[in-house]
Amino acid sequence: MSLRFDDRVVIVTGAGNGLGRSHALDFAQRGARVVVNDLGGGIGGTGASASAAQAVVEEIRTAGGEAVANTDSVEDGDKVVQTAMDTFGRVDVVVNNAGILRDASFAKMADADWDIIYRVHLYGSYKVTRAAWPHMRAAGYGRVLMTTSVAGLYGNFGQANYAAAKLGLLGLAQTLAVEGASKNILCNTVAPTAGSRLTATVLPEEVRAALRPEYITPLVVLLSHESCPVNGKLFEASGGWVSQTRWEQSEGVFFREDFSAEDVMSRWEDITDFARSRHADRITQARTGLEERLGRSLEMAPQSR
Ligand code: NAI
Repeated sequence: MSLRFDDRVVIVTGAGNGLGRSHALDFAQRGARVVVNDLGGGIGGTGASASAAQAVVEEIRTAGGEAVANTDSVEDGDKVVQTAMDTFGRVDVVVNNAGILRDASFAKMADADWDIIYRVHLYGSYKVTRAAWPHMRAAGYGRVLMTTSVAGLYGNFGQANYAAAKLGLLGLAQTLAVEGASKNILCNTVAPTAGSRLTATVLPEEVRAALRPEYITPLVVLLSHESCPVNGKLFEASGGWVSQTRWEQSEGVFFREDFSAEDVMSRWEDITDFARSRHADRITQARTGLEERLGRSLEMAPQSR
């Protein structure tokens, strides 16, 4: 079965280069009408130019596809979504991909480095998705993708700002998956590694050449399709390798009331023993043992607003 996107409107942020460009070209080939968003600045988030987005739109049109450029920052997510509504009248898919780097060891990190990384990655993905959300809810359909990073999942020297923002996206995605499900809005997260201008300073040229952005796109396209088989899940992809990543929770230990740090220390081996681990999917599953112990449900959802 070929995965078509006819009549679907897909927003890809940061689609003027690297992964976003590859995603946009593939979506267009599959019949999607694509909003190619790109601010067109440098990898550190300075400057702006319309040429990056325009070039990809031209590429798509030359190949017979449909696309429109948007050159706003994702921080102005409502404008990005407005372009989709004005041009195509709907929005079915949002691929949050725009990104920059401001690497510095934590000891040397300036507030400006922290702030701009948060604003582009976490706040920008929030703003674009937030603006698309009511349209998706009204249509009873939506697919949202977040682009996280192994730096956030595992930590990486010099990337405290980036790691924090990127893992924030996973938390956002997991909650959107819960809130969107009843309206057929699915939200998943991908952690890619690929050769691009963003990795030019950290990966050697021959490695970058092997890790083509095009190797990330098939997973992104499947997760953005009507037939997307999952919701609220995390995947890693690189160089043709595609896998799923999940939390693992040890069985844990129940203490009697009034236990001390020494008691915790004395059971450390058991606390950290993963022999009988669980892979909880939802908060309630992650609290099963506790619920049994307390003899009541621990549903933590606030009263709906
Ligand atoms: P890239 O630099 O080739 O492309 C990113 C694009 O985002 C650029 O065209 C840039 O102009 C655009 N952009 C930056 N700030 C923007 C803003 N405020 N509004 C709109 N557009 C903006 O980088 P690459 O590698 O393609 O990265 C894409 C995404 O994948 C990023 O979110 C990055 O953090 C993430 N990622 C990439 C990895 C890699 O190995 N290349 C590893 C992990 C995550």
